[in-house]
Amino acid sequence: MTTHDLEHAWKLAWTHGDVSALTDLMAPGYTRLSRASGTCLTAEELGEEILTIRRGFPDIETTIDSIVAEEERFVVFWSTVGTHTETFLGVPATGRTVKTYGTNLITLRGGQIIHEEVTWDGTEMLHSLGIRHLSDAGSSAQPVRTDDLSGDPDPEMLKTFNRQFVTGVTVVTTQDDEGRPRGLAVNAYASVSLEPPLVLVCIQKSSSTYPALFSATHLGINILGTQQRETIATFASKAPDKFASVAWHPAPGGSPLIDGSPASLEAEIRDRFQAKTHTVFICRVGHAEVTDADPMLYKAGRFYDSDGLTQI
Ligand SMILES: Cc1cc2nc3c(=O)[nH]c(=O)nc-3n(C[C@H](O)[C@H](O)[C@H](O)COP(=O)(O)O)c2cc1C
Repeated sequence: MTTHDLEHAWKLAWTHGDVSALTDLMAPGYTRLSRASGTCLTAEELGEEILTIRRGFPDIETTIDSIVAEEERFVVFWSTVGTHTETFLGVPATGRTVKTYGTNLITLRGGQIIHEEVTWDGTEMLHSLGIRHLSDAGSSAQPVRTDDLSGDPDPEMLKTFNRQFVTGVTVVTTQDDEGRPRGLAVNAYASVSLEPPLVLVCIQKSSSTYPALFSATHLGINILGTQQRETIATFASKAPDKFASVAWHPAPGGSPLIDGSPASLEAEIRDRFQAKTHTVFICRVGHAEVTDADPMLYKAGRFYDSDGLTQI
C-alpha cells in the first residue's frame, strides 16, 4: 500500500462516505486505539463511526495535511472541517462549523493496516458545539452548554496576560528520519512532576521541526544562557540548517544537546496531546546535564540577562 492509496481511500471514506474504500485496506484483526478515550474499534466499528459523524456533519471534508512514511509505519497528520447541520450524538443541529486536527500512527503488516493509534481529543470538537462531556450528549434532549457567553473573545486578552509572564527560553531538539539534527526555540516548557520525572513542551504543528518531533521517540531540551543570544535567534528562525554554526553533542538517545547551555536534558516522548494548532508532548526525562552558565530570561518579546537579579 502506498501513501497515495491511503490518501485516496481516506478521502473516499471521510468526504464521500464510501467507508469500504478505507476498510478494504485493513488486515484481518485490524484495531484502532484512541489514545484520548482508550477505546479500541474494529474495522467495522470504524466504518459505523465514520457514517455517524457524516450524518451529523454532512458537508464534512477531511484533508491529509502530511504523511510521514517509514517501511511498516505511516504517520498521518489530518484536519477535518464540517458543519453541524443534523442531530449528532443526540445534540440537535447547532449550525456551527467545527475544525479539528488529529494524528494517526498506522502500523502495516503485509501491505495492509493492522493497527492504528489515533491522537485526537474528541472533547475539543464537542466543546466547539457547546457540549461539556460526551455523556451530556445522547442521553439528554437539552444538552449542557458551556459557552453561552455572547461575543467573540478578545484575541489581545491572552497576549496581554502572557506579556506579564517571565520565562526562560529553551531549544527543543530531535533528529529527523535521516539522522539530521533539528530544533526550534520554545518557551512553552514546564516541569510536570519529579516522580516520575516528567516534563512538557508545546509545539506548533506548522513548525518545520514538528514532523520530526512527532515521529521521534526522544527529544532534547536545552535551557539557553546569556551567552547564547545568537543561538536563540537561529532557532527562532526558519534557517534550513540551524546546527551549522552551533556546537552540539548527542545525548545517549541521540537527541542533539547544545554545548555551553546552562542545562540540557533528554527525555523519552510518552504522550502527545492534540490542542488544535499545537501538540503538547509529555516526556519522561532519562538524562540531564547542568553547567554554571547563567540562563537567559524572556519577557514580552525581549531577552534579559539573569545575572544580578535582586532577591525580594
Ligand atoms: C522566545 C520564543 C519562544 C517560542 N516559543 C515557542 C513555543 O513554545 N512553541 C512553539 O511551537 N514555537 C515557539 N516559538 C516559535 C518558534 O521557535 C519559531 O516559529 C521557529 O521559527 C520554528 O522553526 P521551525 O519551523 O524551523 O521548526 C518561540 C519563539 C521565540 C523567539
